[in-house]
Amino acid sequence: MSYSQRGTKNHLDLDYTRPRNLTELIICFIALIIAPKRCLNRPRVKLIPDCLLEIFSYLKNDRRTLFSCIRVSRLWCRLAIPILWSAPFKYYSQSYTSKIINTYISCLDIQDKEFLKSIGLRIPVRRVRPLFCYPKYLEGFSIDNYTIAMKRWVNDNFHCVHDKWDLLRTQQIVDSMIMDLTFNDSSSLKKFKYVNYDGFSRINFLEKLSNSDLSLINTFEFLGHGYTKEMCFITLPKLFKQMSKSSRNIKHLAFYFPKTSKFYYQNFNPYNPTELDLSVAELIRSQNSLKSFCTNEFWLQCSTELIFSSLISHSNSLKFIKFFTLINLNQSFFQYIKQIHSLRTLEVKRFLSFEQSLSQNLIPQNYLSQIQNIYFDERGISYQLIDTIIRLTNLSLKKFYSRQTNLSILLSIESFCPNLTHLHISLDKYFDRLLNIIKKLPLISFYLQVRHYSKSLKFSLPSTLQCFGLDSEINQDDFEDLLDNAYLPNLSTMELLYISGINENFRKIFIKFNEKFNYQLKELKLEKNLLKKFILLDKKELWNTRTFKINEVKNFKYTAYEEIFGCPFYKYT
Ligand SMILES: *[C@@H]1O[C@H](CO)[C@@H](O)[C@H](O)[C@H]1NC(C)=O
Ligand SMILES: *[C@@H]1O[C@H](CO)[C@@H](O)[C@H](O)[C@H]1NC(C)=O
Ligand SMILES: *[C@@H]1O[C@H](CO)[C@@H](O)[C@H](O)[C@H]1NC(C)=O
Ligand SMILES: *[C@@H]1O[C@H](CO)[C@@H](O)[C@H](O)[C@H]1NC(C)=O
Ligand SMILES: *[C@@H]1O[C@H](CO)[C@@H](O)[C@H](O)[C@H]1NC(C)=O
Ligand SMILES: *[C@@H]1O[C@H](CO)[C@@H](O)[C@H](O)[C@H]1NC(C)=O
Ligand SMILES: *[C@@H]1O[C@H](CO)[C@@H](O)[C@H](O)[C@H]1NC(C)=O
Repeated sequence: MSYSQRGTKNHLDLDYTRPRNLTELIICFIALIIAPKRCLNRPRVKLIPDCLLEIFSYLKNDRRTLFSCIRVSRLWCRLAIPILWSAPFKYYSQSYTSKIINTYISCLDIQDKEFLKSIGLRIPVRRVRPLFCYPKYLEGFSIDNYTIAMKRWVNDNFHCVHDKWDLLRTQQIVDSMIMDLTFNDSSSLKKFKYVNYDGFSRINFLEKLSNSDLSLINTFEFLGHGYTKEMCFITLPKLFKQMSKSSRNIKHLAFYFPKTSKFYYQNFNPYNPTELDLSVAELIRSQNSLKSFCTNEFWLQCSTELIFSSLISHSNSLKFIKFFTLINLNQSFFQYIKQIHSLRTLEVKRFLSFEQSLSQNLIPQNYLSQIQNIYFDERGISYQLIDTIIRLTNLSLKKFYSRQTNLSILLSIESFCPNLTHLHISLDKYFDRLLNIIKKLPLISFYLQVRHYSKSLKFSLPSTLQCFGLDSEINQDDFEDLLDNAYLPNLSTMELLYISGINENFRKIFIKFNEKFNYQLKELKLEKNLLKKFILLDKKELWNTRTFKINEVKNFKYTAYEEIFGCPFYKYT
């Protein structure tokens, strides 16, 4: 949620209720500002649709304005509709997504609609079919957000008339109709996130999916749980093999197949890669240039080389790898990673085992000096392994994010990471050594999570900082003291998760700090309760304006997944 500064109300909110002509006027004005010169130079006849299209594409995230545009004229409508319907489940609100589902339902053919009516669903009444086939404009489809919307729509519109049709069954029926409709023409689809749910079967959909047009897909996530044996070893291999022929432009690929069903593997020959292993390796290898890859270790040990050699075939483009879990980690793992020359970011969520003896043998012949950014997204990763990986990066590290850090790791950072610009760490205990270490680093971003705060921090924050986050037991007076004494002329973002002893001066601390440094601070992010208090004080201080935004922060992030895939990995639970 964003609380923009008092008095700067979003002008588009106002337009929405005014006459159409004014809306058109304003949009034309915006158009003139943002339209590229080459548009304006073209002959008049061609100018309009091309330019409008370009302009509308700038408004992709401004749905209110786009909705106004579709009322202007037929042409405007024809051009704006595909943009408006390109990722309808990205903007989640109950009433809004309910309307989206309603519209999709109205695109079904008559027989389907009659059938839904007959089993007790209230469906939108429209005499004619809608003018547009809205589902075919889908470019980004996240099945998790859609599923929530669809289930809720069924809950709200279902009146049980037969015992036979309970809620779940009805949801399955509606789902399969909408999915059929959507994937009948999926030729616009670029981003597809599939999540498998326990107890909600989409096996029929997955079977049909290999016949769909997925040629434009560039971001493909395949996550979830509750896969049946048939899905794992027949349906999905078929789908992935088909995709290796038809979808060659995948840039960002993520797989998560939990290895919970050990019994699936009981009758397997451990020396033969499974169909799933083979098809995933083929899908990876067949891509033109893969940039990001995320996975857990779902494959049999005998397929490790297969999977990694397909990744190594992208050693000119693959920049980001994340392992959700790694089970069998040994020397070979580092040998493989080393061969992916383009790799810049390595992220790890969980290692299930780690040979203690590994670290001694690793250095120096396995240097991973291409890697610049490391993210350890979870507690419980062995300190020794974290330490080993830092040492392996051979001075190249720029970003280090870890949910778990101890003194040995800090000392390795001191010796092996002189060029670190981003340090986001969670410490089990405060060390005075930390202060000396951070003082010397060219840090742009520093986030610290540690139980007890030490007053000496104020003297060691590097003046280069642009972002600073603190999650520590600190009271308002000490925090004020920190801001009074630290020299942070370039600080533009501050994130604070905990401050106790808040009083009526809370807001002033930041105003004062910002005045001192020439209004560099652009954004203050506060934990929910702190934010509430800040807003209360904001309301009281009528004449004292501030120049920075305030927003909510829930917790610090130790992952880059969201930046790349556009949504957090665990959104599907
Ligand atoms: C799903 O919905 C949430 C809001 O509830 C949104 O923040 C997120 O971006 C959506 N995910 C995708 C991939 O569109
Ligand atoms: C599916 O697509 C075909 C052509 O691509 C079209 O003729 C048919 O009407 C579509 N079916 C539905 C239910 O939209
Ligand atoms: C590491 O483990 C893989 C299987 O995961 C095995 O094929 C390989 O031989 C092992 N390498 C070493 C050096 O132990
Ligand atoms: C370590 O880095 C230095 C300079 O950055 C480079 O010259 C050297 O080759 C690297 N060592 C290895 C083994 O990659
Ligand atoms: C950090 O953790 C490692 C591995 O558990 C341990 O060997 C080391 O002694 C720890 N360092 C400190 C200073 O506690
Ligand atoms: C990293 O730091 C070292 C030592 O401070 C320096 O010599 C080197 O040029 C730096 N490398 C980069 C890529 O900034
Ligand atoms: C602050 O930023 C300016 C402009 O980017 C830069 O020139 C200056 O060196 C920075 N100051 C510090 C203390 O890093």
